[in-house]
Amino acid sequence: MLILGGSASQPLAEKVAKELGQEPGHLEVKRFPDGEKYLRIYNEVKDQDVVAIQSLYRTPDENIFELLLLNDTLRDLGARSITAVAPYLAYARQDSRFFPGEAVSSASVARLLEYAGTTSFLTIDCHLHRLGDVAKVFKIPARNLTAMHELGKYAREHFKPRNPIVIGPDEEAEQWASVVAKELDTEHVAFRKVRVRKEGMTSSKVEVDAGDIEVKGRDVVFADDIVSTGGTIAEAAKACKKGGANRIFVVCTHPVLAEGALKRIKAAGVLKVIGTDTYPGPISKVTVAPVIAAALKS
Ligand code: R5P
Repeated sequence: MLILGGSASQPLAEKVAKELGQEPGHLEVKRFPDGEKYLRIYNEVKDQDVVAIQSLYRTPDENIFELLLLNDTLRDLGARSITAVAPYLAYARQDSRFFPGEAVSSASVARLLEYAGTTSFLTIDCHLHRLGDVAKVFKIPARNLTAMHELGKYAREHFKPRNPIVIGPDEEAEQWASVVAKELDTEHVAFRKVRVRKEGMTSSKVEVDAGDIEVKGRDVVFADDIVSTGGTIAEAAKACKKGGANRIFVVCTHPVLAEGALKRIKAAGVLKVIGTDTYPGPISKVTVAPVIAAALKS
């Protein structure tokens, strides 16, 4: 198996290759003077099983295009199989046509990857709330892995929470809270969230209902897939503070952290927030390399 890292995920590809006891392949990515991308694969790929790792964070359109170019080149050069690994799958949240005429971007991205020769697909804690399973978006075999075990272990070792309760800030996050709770050997619950998005707007307002969940005197660990504007976690944290929670921590897979998110979260009473290297940044303390390597081995 040959592991190739796109320009957005070279450090992650190196870690995955190391987990598998091998060196990563050599992919060169440069720019022509007019801004177009130049790509060259230095390894022999004919009849090889190739894994192309490229997370679709921060500059999603650029990263997607490079992955399409890479996979199409691999097919052209005769690779036997091409597994695309997009640890952060951009555009997944637009998985329905909420208003007439909107693009269903998740389906379009899947089709583009298939047209480009991808033969199987892996992602991590993918946000497909309405469809649920990434396998429903792709025609090729597609799997959604989870980083929540690694995040739970990190919380156990570094936060050392006392009398913890793990909370999913909304109903969908219950699946992630349950995994983290197992790692912390405690219970989990989920809040209810209402997101109000008006036609013509791309952002939305969030309201969180904590119900009668008892957090008084306990350390709270929130588990979610994405922290973007931080609005969800901030509202959930405020509810916990009101309920007398002790320390509040957050673990998330994809720390998107749109402008002001960290400040918003801290102002709401959160002590620490960490994420993974699916979306590299200042709080990406946990690597998903072992998760990807284990899936590639299976
Ligand atoms: C959505 O429901 C997700 O699980 C996250 O809770 C959400 O994407 C976080 O977004 P934000 O940080 O902007 O509230």
